[in-house]
Amino acid sequence: MQTKIVPVPDGAAIQDAAAVLKAGGLVAFPTETVYGLGGNGLDAAASSKIYEAKGRPGDNPLILHLSCPEEAEKYAYTCPMYYKLAMAFMPGPLTVILKKKEIVPYRTTGGLDTVALRVPSHPVARALLEACDFPIAAPSANTSGRPSPTCIEHVAEDLEGKVDMILGGGACEIGVESTIVMIDGEDLTLLRPGAITPQMLSCFCRALSVDPALDRPLDDTGTPLAPGMKYKHYAPKAKVILLEGSEEEIRTFMLSEYRKRSVGILCAQDLAELMNGENVISLGKSKEEQARALFASLREFDHRPEVEIIYAPKPSKDGIGLAVYNRLAKAAGFTVKKLKEEKDG
Ligand code: TXA
Ligand code: MG
Repeated sequence: MQTKIVPVPDGAAIQDAAAVLKAGGLVAFPTETVYGLGGNGLDAAASSKIYEAKGRPGDNPLILHLSCPEEAEKYAYTCPMYYKLAMAFMPGPLTVILKKKEIVPYRTTGGLDTVALRVPSHPVARALLEACDFPIAAPSANTSGRPSPTCIEHVAEDLEGKVDMILGGGACEIGVESTIVMIDGEDLTLLRPGAITPQMLSCFCRALSVDPALDRPLDDTGTPLAPGMKYKHYAPKAKVILLEGSEEEIRTFMLSEYRKRSVGILCAQDLAELMNGENVISLGKSKEEQARALFASLREFDHRPEVEIIYAPKPSKDGIGLAVYNRLAKAAGFTVKKLKEEKDG
């Protein structure tokens, strides 16, 4: 298949893309979180094509993207809490799970009676949604199992030749996928951490619980509430190992390892500056910068075949740090090296 790539889409390109979607085709497009691979969410055949292009398991449901929060009425049973969250965080990086209406095919929801809804804020995503009279089903625009794409080059790397069109819109501002929540009356359950943090959500609900599956290795018992979280996502080709210890212990360990040819290091800028090594990649200074750079950095290591092990300090879990920790822990299959224990005995 010939893929039309439009790095800077104008109005005409948006209309073309909407026509492709209407005819049952696939269009990748930028959002503020990561790039998405879109199809008509009401068309079961288009959803099937999405699963096929990504090599995605069929029980992993897709997110429906909407042009405004009120559009949810057509596809799901809303509730006061949905509108509370919508007022606070939409358009933006929040996905809400609601009971679906019949119009949404089971193919789109992976067989579930619920549907995931999100209103993205990226101007290209918004223009595309405005040009369509249906919701756009869109998972992240990567091959299943690879890090999510945060620029048009990553999308082309994974999907050129497999989709009709790829729209650009710069590097994604947030860099990790949307926060996913499930509503139970006045209470919320966090299914996937993202830029809308637990602290931000807590202000709008009575109680916030976190799906315990978020912090567990994948082969442990218990199925995550978001089916996609059970898959080994975000995995680069090299083995990722998280380092746990004091700042001093982590610094000492990294300084002793980074010169080895087969070792890659992924860490904050202040630490990276201490090591003048080819395979030391800095994620940046703030937690926000680190979220933005994470997936691109994991992909970068895939272009360095000599790297067999990637060491990364375990990120702190506050704010958007929880999302960075979650994605890195999954990339590592929850493998943590405890530096203190090793030293003690
Ligand atoms: O930021 C994002 O959310 C990006 C952009 C493109 O919008 N999309 C994205 O989609 O990350 P995807 O398919 O990679 O992740 C969707 C997640 C999966 O973990 C899936 O299991 C969960 O949402 N999900 C979808 N529908 C669900 C449902 N009805 N119940 C529980 N989890 C659901
Ligand atoms: Mg994904």
